Amino acid sequence: MKRDSNLRLIEKIQRLKKERKAIILAHNYQIGEVQDVADYLGDSLGLSRQAAKTNAEVIVFCGVHFMAETAAILCPDKIVLMPDIDAGCPMADMIDRERLKVLKRKHPKATVVSYVNTPAEVKAESDICCTSANAVKLIKSLKSQEIIFTPDKYLAHYVATKTDKRIIPWDGFCPSHVRILSGDIARRKKEHPTAEVIVHPECTPEVIKLSDRALSTEGMCKYAKEGSVLEIIVGTEIGLLHRLRKENPGKKFYSASELAICPSMKLTTLEKILWSLEDMKEQITVPEEIRVKAKRAIDKMLEIS
Ligand code: 13P
Ligand code: SF4
Repeated sequence: MKRDSNLRLIEKIQRLKKERKAIILAHNYQIGEVQDVADYLGDSLGLSRQAAKTNAEVIVFCGVHFMAETAAILCPDKIVLMPDIDAGCPMADMIDRERLKVLKRKHPKATVVSYVNTPAEVKAESDICCTSANAVKLIKSLKSQEIIFTPDKYLAHYVATKTDKRIIPWDGFCPSHVRILSGDIARRKKEHPTAEVIVHPECTPEVIKLSDRALSTEGMCKYAKEGSVLEIIVGTEIGLLHRLRKENPGKKFYSASELAICPSMKLTTLEKILWSLEDMKEQITVPEEIRVKAKRAIDKMLEIS
């Protein structure tokens, strides 16, 4: 029954997508059926790249607000739609422009590197953006020895272990990734002794320490596909398991913790994608003055990575 109604919805979405000259971009944490309807599925870096190069006139962004905003910053001539406007990122909400300005005044020589999980206004106050896929490489490439890193203190800590720069972290974190505890990893390792452990760098340092690798979500997909390991414990938001299992039917994947759920990533549904294309809502826009400054920081990231 549900399968039939989903098929009808997918058909309508495909038809309307053509009419509107639209493309559907989805993040790896979206629910399975949304992942399956996407033209492109990926991590924050891949999604930014796709947004930057698409010829489509409309981008339906299935992810969280900062991701759709990044697309709007990169493509001012396109219509960027979010099927559920309430899909925010709590980590991105832990920082604001005014408080960043205060920190910048305290460290006038520091280069400001902001994770893409930030509001446009914060990107506009930053020298360069990064994602979890390129943070280490990008920070190593900077001339400055002193780096203000916002907003994720755990990604900042991870980067600090990989470079010799002085990192000044913002006090933010991802409420979904901190649900993964070192005890969860230890338990899973006991249950699956031959499995490898891969975790997202938004996890706590204790969890990263127990892992074999810290990777972005796209990095995890690549590693699972290309590596020879047959069993993998996955320390990130559980939505990624859908893609990992679909792409690697012969391999086994275990979530490090069933509690690692990002509620915002689960708000987008097939129905909402259809309504969004029907009504051309909700459109994401960024005031031009902020957009231009924020674009500079994102473009620098895309150039280096
Ligand atoms: P990725 O860029 O690795 O997909 O991560 C985005 C994110 O929000 C992780 O919580
Ligand atoms: Fe934000 Fe965490 Fe959700 Fe990623 S998983 S969108 S960082 S709250």
